[in-house]
Amino acid sequence: MTSEKHMPTVLILGGTSDLGVCMAREFLRRGWRPVLAGRNEEMLRQAARDLETRCGITIPLIAYNAEDFAAHPELPEQCRAVIGRLPEGVVSCVGLLPDPDSVRCDSELARTCLNANLTGIITSLDPFVELFEQRRAGFLGVVTSVAGDRGRKSNYHYAAAKAGLDVYLQGLRHRLHGSGVTVTTVKPGYLQTKMISGMSLPRALITAPEKAAVQAVNAILNGRRVVYVPFWWRLIMLAVRIIPEPLFVRTNI
Ligand SMILES: NC(=O)c1ccc[n+]([C@@H]2O[C@H](COP(=O)([O-])OP(=O)(O)OC[C@H]3O[C@@H](n4cnc5c(N)ncnc54)[C@H](OP(=O)(O)O)[C@@H]3O)[C@@H](O)[C@H]2O)c1
Repeated sequence: MTSEKHMPTVLILGGTSDLGVCMAREFLRRGWRPVLAGRNEEMLRQAARDLETRCGITIPLIAYNAEDFAAHPELPEQCRAVIGRLPEGVVSCVGLLPDPDSVRCDSELARTCLNANLTGIITSLDPFVELFEQRRAGFLGVVTSVAGDRGRKSNYHYAAAKAGLDVYLQGLRHRLHGSGVTVTTVKPGYLQTKMISGMSLPRALITAPEKAAVQAVNAILNGRRVVYVPFWWRLIMLAVRIIPEPLFVRTNI
């Protein structure tokens, strides 16, 4: 195996996420070294131990909280401290889906939802955008959600944040066109992860995170712009988007 120092590296924000861990495994399988960043030190260590047992290389860790905006400009330096250089790419799997009944009457929770799903991701990616652009190489792969395609009564705070993130990434692609830096928006439907545990959802629409991770990593490494995971969510959301609003408000979708 290539020495870990010479492996291409990818920083995974939300390194304790179920999807993030599966993506880390998938990157490893393809010869990439993941750096896991997260706020729960114990879970982060556990995730790193699991990966290390599989591959025999050390997995660097970075303490990261999406709501700690002041720390975000230091993220590239933190990477240099643990891997000796900038990573080749950055992936975000950060996401927070609050209980819909709680978030609509708790402004603190609404703010946390917007910060963790939108503001904090933007302030974390911006420092890398500048450096990748100067280097004329790199990738950003950001997990948003099909929820951002249309506001619905069940999750509109979360959906608003994800929709905002979609537009930010669209703008980045426009700015970075021809720069050698790729920006991939990954839009999963329902994934069998702790985020949706306990929810009653149609089983046929739920995808295993391992399967989603393969599709997400493929799309990111191939520099795809927007990928629905699995692909058929693109058709479902097309149908959901074209329902005229006067009809849509009468539905239970
Ligand atoms: N599961 C689904 O059905 C579904 C559908 C569409 C999109 N997604 C998106 O897929 C991505 C991965 O989610 P998942 O399904 O794997 O769920 P998950 O296991 O609950 O992962 C969510 C991750 O976000 C992290 N996070 C939340 N707030 C944070 C903060 N302030 N600072 C740092 N990290 C924070 C969590 O860290 P802690 O461990 O510290 O809480 C966790 O690592 C998310 O972007 C999610 O929105 C999921």
